[in-house]
Amino acid sequence: MIRKNYIYILACTCVLVLFSCKHGEGEYHGVIEKINAEGKNYHGTSISSEQYIEGIKTIEITEDGHTFLIPERKGQIRSYACTECHSKPLEDMQSKGIKEAHWDIKIVHANENAMNCVTCHNPNNMDQLKSLTGKDIDFNKSYNLCNQCHSKQFEDWKGGAHGKRIGGWAPPRASMTCVNCHNPHKPHFESRWPSRFNTQTELERK
Ligand code: HEC
Ligand code: HEC
Ligand code: HEC
Ligand code: HEC
Repeated sequence: MIRKNYIYILACTCVLVLFSCKHGEGEYHGVIEKINAEGKNYHGTSISSEQYIEGIKTIEITEDGHTFLIPERKGQIRSYACTECHSKPLEDMQSKGIKEAHWDIKIVHANENAMNCVTCHNPNNMDQLKSLTGKDIDFNKSYNLCNQCHSKQFEDWKGGAHGKRIGGWAPPRASMTCVNCHNPHKPHFESRWPSRFNTQTELERK
């Protein structure tokens, strides 16, 4: 009985050894080895997503080893440069009894204990955004403003999991930046009906 078991185990081991050494990937011992070896013959692709981003002015950024393009912002901001008007302290501008300049901007983001205009804007130099510790942040890199409080989304975005790519999957990588999708003053997305809403189904449900 013991002998029978012994032979059985021996047979199994042989089969295992046979299988693990069976050169399923040709002359390679595994898929990793195959990729490493055959990758040596790979000298990049001639496919590029450049043609899709031709019309967009982009800047290159590097964040923790991820280098990619994002759309330039300053050229898109209607009231930039801010210092065209903000050449003196805010109090001086406000005390003139001028009608509110930015009447269309209301913060619908975090509550007023957590943020007001100067949490993000630098009143001493309006052309710059401001970190929570008072450091300047360029308007083109406003993702650094967001990442102070939304580091999870920032981490995902860096790696390409949050936020959309512009162009194709081929290099160079170009991605939308936070403010392309989220209005910093009102970042929540409104709920929407589907673009093609089947009114008939809706009627039948009633
Ligand atoms: C056309 C002139 C003009 C431009 C351009 C302009 N501002 Fe202003 N802004 C004003 C005036 C005037 C006030 C003060 C009066 C008021 O409260 O409306 C003001 C007030 C502000 C305030 C304080 C608001 C408050 O309620 O305390 C912030 C913050 C601000 N501006 C940010 C900016 C930023 C950022 C830019 C550039 C992206 C910009 N502004 C461009 C005219 C301008
Ligand atoms: C959470 C951070 C944050 C807060 C709070 C905030 N802003 Fe902004 N604001 C931004 C960012 C980022 C931009 C640039 C957006 C872009 O790239 O389009 C901006 C852009 C602007 C602009 C230029 C918009 C345009 O289209 O010309 C004005 C003016 C402005 N902010 C004023 C204000 C005022 C006034 C307040 C307070 C009522 C305020 N902001 C509060 C982050 C903030
Ligand atoms: C000072 C901290 C702070 C900064 C800076 C900040 N946020 Fe927020 N944000 C908050 C808080 C707090 C909330 C509310 C969270 C909640 O309600 O759960 C929030 C909510 C949001 C939401 C979710 C809104 C919703 O209800 O679905 C989005 C999207 C967002 N922020 C985007 C941004 C973007 C983009 C920037 C940069 C321009 C930014 N935030 C900068 C603190 C911040
Ligand atoms: C291509 C558009 C796009 C870009 C770019 C983008 N987001 Fe979002 N974001 C979304 C969408 C869509 C949602 C989901 C909204 C919902 O569920 O209502 C979202 C959700 C969020 C939320 C709410 C929490 C959650 O996960 O549901 C936060 C906070 C946020 N984004 C922050 C950021 C920050 C910070 C950046 C830049 C580093 C960024 N987003 C870039 C589209 C974008």
